[in-house]
Amino acid sequence: MSIAWSPESWQHKPLSQRVDYPDGEALRRAVDSLSQLPPLVTSGEIEKLKLLLADAAAGERFVLQGGDCNESFADCSADPITAKLKILLKMSLILAFGAQQPVVRIGRLAGQYSKPRSSDVETRGETTLPVYRGDLVNRPGFTADERRPDPQLLLRGYERAALTLNFVRALIQGGLADFRHPEFWELGFVDLSRQSAEFREMMRGIAESVRFVETIAGRSLAEWLSRGEFYVSHEGLHLWYEQAHTRQVPRRTGWYNLSTHLPWIGERTRSVDGAHVEYFRGIANPIGVKVGCGCTPEELLALCDTLNPDNQPGRLMLIHRFGAARIPAALPRLVEAVLRKGRRVVWCCDPMHGNTLTTASGVKTRDFDAILRELETAIDIHQALGSVLAGVHFEMTGENVTECIGGARGLTEADLTRNYRSDVDPRLNYEQAMEMALLLARKLSRGRAAAR
Ligand code: PEP
Ligand code: CO
Repeated sequence: MSIAWSPESWQHKPLSQRVDYPDGEALRRAVDSLSQLPPLVTSGEIEKLKLLLADAAAGERFVLQGGDCNESFADCSADPITAKLKILLKMSLILAFGAQQPVVRIGRLAGQYSKPRSSDVETRGETTLPVYRGDLVNRPGFTADERRPDPQLLLRGYERAALTLNFVRALIQGGLADFRHPEFWELGFVDLSRQSAEFREMMRGIAESVRFVETIAGRSLAEWLSRGEFYVSHEGLHLWYEQAHTRQVPRRTGWYNLSTHLPWIGERTRSVDGAHVEYFRGIANPIGVKVGCGCTPEELLALCDTLNPDNQPGRLMLIHRFGAARIPAALPRLVEAVLRKGRRVVWCCDPMHGNTLTTASGVKTRDFDAILRELETAIDIHQALGSVLAGVHFEMTGENVTECIGGARGLTEADLTRNYRSDVDPRLNYEQAMEMALLLARKLSRGRAAAR
């Protein structure tokens, strides 16, 4: 039965990925303190993003969403944040060039601090402890103290999110390096690729376009980008954190989650009757839902009805993540159901989460070629059905980690031990993410050429 919505009404629904805090009173105090603190984003920005997403669903813009699987408090420092922002901006220019469309940039950052886990506990040898659920909840070290959920971390997470967003906004407004200098692009890996001549040609095309735009606009691209928007998103997993940031604002109706522009519901928490869907249905933000192989067309339509009853364009992003082998069978029936019922959704492809594998030595990785294959298949399926793939969702970093295999440098399983830094899922590194953007841009530009 449907209950009246409030920022707390999710507490009456079954909650998956529940965190068991040993001290409930301390949790309530932390949530109360959090709800007194200023918001991180504004409702005006949120409404603007909704309009941009509506354009993307209509095939007029392309969405690039990306960042760490799991932001860590330790990485809340200048270099990793700058590297993440720079690579997202570079990829967005490459994709804009390929798609011949403006790109909506959304970082997976400033709040991506809590993770769904497949088990509540982790066992090493004789010892079993609560699993690490992200820095918002507990700590990664394997001791009882570090694994105990600590409500103070909700406040620490909010502070890290605020520091991150403050620095991102400052960088965009004035601190970015010059896009005209070839060193800025750091393209050493291109020569290692089989497509190096083609990539060089694309980069030349981009450099020329940048010069052209700067000439007619009479100002530098960096200056122009500083006016361009940059949005943030995270999985809205920890509902106490999300509730504390849910506010009403003057001169607008409804409730906004002001911790981020675009929160999303994960694959493990998207049950129509569950607490997460209950919370998300009542906020006015654009929202995402991850959709994997277990999702039937009926279930997807029920999610559309509950989360977007007015069929508002730009409100509901469906982020599908099946894996390269399963997308050909899994995606068409969902797209067809959505088309048949005339549901307005913003389709995006997450080519990461269906392509995770564990090596013989127990390391989680992903293969560059499988990621690319899922993306290309997604584009083809949407196009064949008369639907629109509005964007992509990556787990990536601007740094030189070795977590995914493949790419121009041909990283192998043996390389994974060199610089594997993720506590959770493996990310594309700088070179792999740039190469992926080039290959995706190539695919998008071929699609445009074929449609002409
Ligand atoms: C994630 O995006 O990190 C994640 C856990 O994804 P999913 O919910 O699709 O498994
Ligand atoms: Co992940």
